[in-house]
Amino acid sequence: MFKRHRIQFPKSGVEGLNQDEAYFYLHENEVPQKLRFHDYDKIYEVQGLYEQLFYDRLKCVSPAKVADILASSVLQSREQFSELRVLDFGAGNGMMGEELKKHGVSRLVGVDIIPEAFNATIRDRPEVYDAYYVADFTQLYDEQKEEIASWQCDCMVTVAALGFGDIPTKAFIEAFNMIKNQGWIAFNIKETFFDNSDESGFSKMIRELIFSEYLEVYHIERYKHRLSVDGEPLYYFAIVGRKNVNVPDSFLTKFEG
Ligand SMILES: C[S@@+](CC[C@H](N)C(=O)[O-])C[C@H]1O[C@@H](n2cnc3c(N)ncnc32)[C@H](O)[C@@H]1O
Repeated sequence: MFKRHRIQFPKSGVEGLNQDEAYFYLHENEVPQKLRFHDYDKIYEVQGLYEQLFYDRLKCVSPAKVADILASSVLQSREQFSELRVLDFGAGNGMMGEELKKHGVSRLVGVDIIPEAFNATIRDRPEVYDAYYVADFTQLYDEQKEEIASWQCDCMVTVAALGFGDIPTKAFIEAFNMIKNQGWIAFNIKETFFDNSDESGFSKMIRELIFSEYLEVYHIERYKHRLSVDGEPLYYFAIVGRKNVNVPDSFLTKFEG
């Protein structure tokens, strides 16, 4: 159990804010600190703050949801969840890793772009990952790429880390291509990314990937990811599929720029 923090949500002016623009006040010192939800570096530095904010207050259920539908898809295929070698991409402070460990997996490798995520994982969940890399998948060094690939992962999970300026298209595909053919891909995405009126490169890429020859979808489910600051439910899709083959560069270039 971590120390509780004094968190205050803004009382007005939050309507119409994008999810990545949402913020709160942390009352730890005399002057309250204004933190955006996407200030992950600062949030992870305060032990227990991420958990209290997203899981206790805003009732996020995504790690459990994505892990559950991954487990049922693997079971449907008569494979063993406990034999999976999982790459947790956008691992943060290890909430998804912890969930996967409850099911039991063979190997668990975490990746995040910021060192604060790694530091928080080592501080709070040191037992969860077999290895954890701080890396930018849009510009991986050869040695980093070889080392991560050497884990021979046959499953990738990405939870609450796609869209809103988090993991970009190029990085997602780079990680996808590191997973073995016939390996499992499990992720979640805000429901609006499925809307054809969303013309952003990321939305178009995700929509096309889901229905492409590169992925065979096993399970797709709309569910309540968490609440917004003003208490409204935020709906996401959780998706689990199997990778058929690597996504070629030509697929990616269609969505860049
Ligand atoms: C909302 S957190 C989710 C963390 C964890 N998956 C969970 O469910 O609690 C999003 C994470 O994605 C990471 N992230 C953002 N962009 C990234 C990138 N390009 N590569 C890897 N991780 C990234 C952030 O640093 C942050 O830790």
